[in-house]
Amino acid sequence: MNPLRPVILAAAGSDRVKRTLTTSPVSASMVRRFVPGETRSALVAAVRELLASGRAVSVDFLGEYTTDRARADSAVAEYLALINDLAALDTSAVPGGAAPLEVSVKLSALGQSLGADGPAIAAENLRVLCTKAGEAGVWVTVDAEDHTTTASTLAAIRQARPEFPWLGTVVQAYLYRSEDDCRDLANAGARVRLCKGAYREPDTVAHQHRAEVDRAYLRCLHTLMHGPSRPLVASHDPALIAAAAALAAQTGRAPGDFEYQMLYGIRTDEQLRLAARGDFVRVYVPYGTQWYGYLTRRLAERPANLAFFLRALAGN
Ligand code: FDA
Repeated sequence: MNPLRPVILAAAGSDRVKRTLTTSPVSASMVRRFVPGETRSALVAAVRELLASGRAVSVDFLGEYTTDRARADSAVAEYLALINDLAALDTSAVPGGAAPLEVSVKLSALGQSLGADGPAIAAENLRVLCTKAGEAGVWVTVDAEDHTTTASTLAAIRQARPEFPWLGTVVQAYLYRSEDDCRDLANAGARVRLCKGAYREPDTVAHQHRAEVDRAYLRCLHTLMHGPSRPLVASHDPALIAAAAALAAQTGRAPGDFEYQMLYGIRTDEQLRLAARGDFVRVYVPYGTQWYGYLTRRLAERPANLAFFLRALAGN
């Protein structure tokens, strides 16, 4: 894990830094690398290109930690329109194209942090999205946020899965609890998107060192690949991608029985290489105006991005 990550994530929490970064012209070019657009029409244009190149998508309408009800309601409305748009797209160029397109959603964008009623509001909003997605033939996966939300998010997914068995869950390998969660979810046949984890977490709940996180990821991946579900290998790390390929071969999984997943704008050549050899590749594509939290997590993942962060803060 990037040793500067906690420093960047802590600085990103300051209002002054947020003001500076969201108005810096340097930010605009960096945002464009990771976020193809602020509007749904820009998003759909980017998704069409990805589909034509043989990659599937999971689309995230940016927004998180919503503290007012109206905003949560408008996120739901946007997702419903997004699901309609995705359902109309041509996926014939995606190998194993039988797997549906997908939306990714953060429960904190659907109201999870709206006080004591928040978890129930988010769970109901998730049900609304899943009902629409089920009718449209689109999948939904719930993103994993900071560890204070993990139990509530997993409870909402557990509650929804009997009605929507295709509902996906994100598991962050850096959390100590995740090996148990992977075991439970694999046994339940759930779709699990396994990532390393992108938030600043204390050592009471999460591994802090890169090698420990990588080892935890491999243990979780082993559990998922040996289980009955469709593992979603969300990483750009060449060693983990190679391990996933080896485990898939060992467990007799065909390319359509698991997915490689990467973020829009990161290791595009590798995404294309995997898709060209017939693997199922899904690209996570965020859009919207609320890109600040997403951008700072991407910057914090890579030491080389620190120079950008400092330049933007210095205003040039
Ligand atoms: P690692 O960080 O070791 O990166 C491996 C290589 O990938 C790097 O050497 C570099 O080449 C490239 N790379 C990675 N990040 C880069 C960046 N920001 N800029 C440029 N190059 C970069 N996290 C979370 O907490 N909750 C979630 O819900 C999700 N959801 C999610 C979905 C999908 C589809 C993916 C791929 C990832 C997430 N994540 C996430 C993010 C995840 O937790 C993690 O922070 C990043 O994927 C980076 O970890 P890697 O496994 O890629 O390894």
